[in-house]
Amino acid sequence: MAEAATKSKMNVNFDRIRDQFPVLTQQVKDQPLVYLDNAASSQMPARVADRIDAYHRNEHANVHRGIHTLSQKATDAYESTREKVQQFINAEHKDEIIFTTGTTDSINLVTNSFGDRFIDEGDEILLSEIEHHANIVPWQMIAERKGAEVRVIPVDDNGDIIWDKFVKLLSDRTAILAVGHVSNALGTVHPIKRMITEAHKQDVPVLVDGAQAVPHTPVDVQDLDADFYAFSAHKMCGPTGFGILYGKKKILDEMPPYRGGGDMIDKVFFEETTYNITPHKFEAGTPPIAVGIGFGETISFLNEIGMENIAQYEQELLEYGTAQLESIDGIRIIGTAKEKASVLSFVHQDIHATDIGTILDQQGIAIRTGHHCAQPTMRRFNVSATARASLSFYNNKEDIDRLAAGIKKAISMFE
Ligand code: ALA
Repeated sequence: MAEAATKSKMNVNFDRIRDQFPVLTQQVKDQPLVYLDNAASSQMPARVADRIDAYHRNEHANVHRGIHTLSQKATDAYESTREKVQQFINAEHKDEIIFTTGTTDSINLVTNSFGDRFIDEGDEILLSEIEHHANIVPWQMIAERKGAEVRVIPVDDNGDIIWDKFVKLLSDRTAILAVGHVSNALGTVHPIKRMITEAHKQDVPVLVDGAQAVPHTPVDVQDLDADFYAFSAHKMCGPTGFGILYGKKKILDEMPPYRGGGDMIDKVFFEETTYNITPHKFEAGTPPIAVGIGFGETISFLNEIGMENIAQYEQELLEYGTAQLESIDGIRIIGTAKEKASVLSFVHQDIHATDIGTILDQQGIAIRTGHHCAQPTMRRFNVSATARASLSFYNNKEDIDRLAAGIKKAISMFE
C-alpha cells in the first residue's frame, strides 16, 4: 500500500525522496519515527546538511568584505541564494529579496521600518482572526508606538474569512493589511490573491505571512501582487536561523533601515551616516552565511521535485488523513476551510490534546499540541489547545495509518 500511496499522478517517487532524510530512519521509543510536526519545523535532506558542512570545512570567510579569494567565493555562494529565491518566488528583481533570520524577523522588519515611515496616529492595521502571534504582536507594538489601531477580520466556523466583513473593514484609514497565506493552526488557505486585489482597490499595501505556504505550494509574488511576502527556511527543509522578506523595490527604497551596523552603510561620519541600497540597507552585520548557502541548496532540492508535485501529493495525503481522523469516534477536526494546506488540527471530546500528544510520542509519533502560537485562533474555536499533525511531502499513508492507530490507542487507554 505504501508504494501506491506515495506515487503522485506526476510520477514522482516520494519514497525515494523520503530516503534522503537521515533523521527519518531513526527509532523513537523503539518504533520507527513518524514525524508529523512539519508546521513547527521540517526535516533537512542530507545534501543540505552536507552543503552547510562543506562551507564550514572548506569555504568559510566573511562575505561582502574581503578582497581575498575565500571571501569572494563565500560571497558568490551566499549571493547565489538571493538569485535562487528570486526565481523560486518569481520576484522581479533580486534586490527585492532581503535575508532575515526567519518569518518573525521579516515581519518585525516591516512593522518597524514600514511602520516607522508609513503608519500614523489614527491609522488602522488590518489582520485576520487566525494569525500566528508573529503576525499579531509586532503590529500591536507599532500600533501602540504610533497611536494606530489593530482591526480584525473575523472567520466563520470553518476557518474561512468572512468576505463581506473583510471588505467593510478596508477603508482610507487602513495603513496595511497583514495576513497569513496559510494558517499554521488550522490549515486554512486564505483567498490571498483576491484579498490583495481588494486591498489594492483602496491603495492598501499587503504583507503576506507565507511561512506555512511556501513549503507546500508554488508561490508567485508578482502574480499575487503582494507588497511584502515573508517566509522561513526551516519550515521548507532548510536550516533554522534563515528567512526571507520579499518586498516591492519601490516600497523598500522608501523605507528607512531597521538595524544599524556594518554592511548597511554607504558613508559613516560622526555627524551623519548615509545608507547602502536595498536590500543591503536592511542587512546589518555579518549575515547567517552558512545557513544562507544551505538554503540555496534547499531550493535546488525543492525545484528538482517540483512545487506543483509537492502540492498535489500533499493534498492527496491531506484528504486521506482527513478521512481517517473523521472516522474516529470522539475526534473533531478544527479547521474545515474550503481550501486547506497540509494541517490536521483536532480535539477529542474527552481527552486533552496534551495527553493525546504524549501517548502518541510513546508510540514514536511526533505531533504538536497546544495553542500553536495562535491563542486568538483557539479562542475563536472555543478550545484551549488542539493536537496538530502537519504533513510534508516525505510523509506517506503509512504515517497517517500509524497516527490513526495511535489516536485509537490513546482513546482506548481512557475508556
Ligand atoms: N509556527 C510554528 C508552528 O506552527 C512554530 O508550530
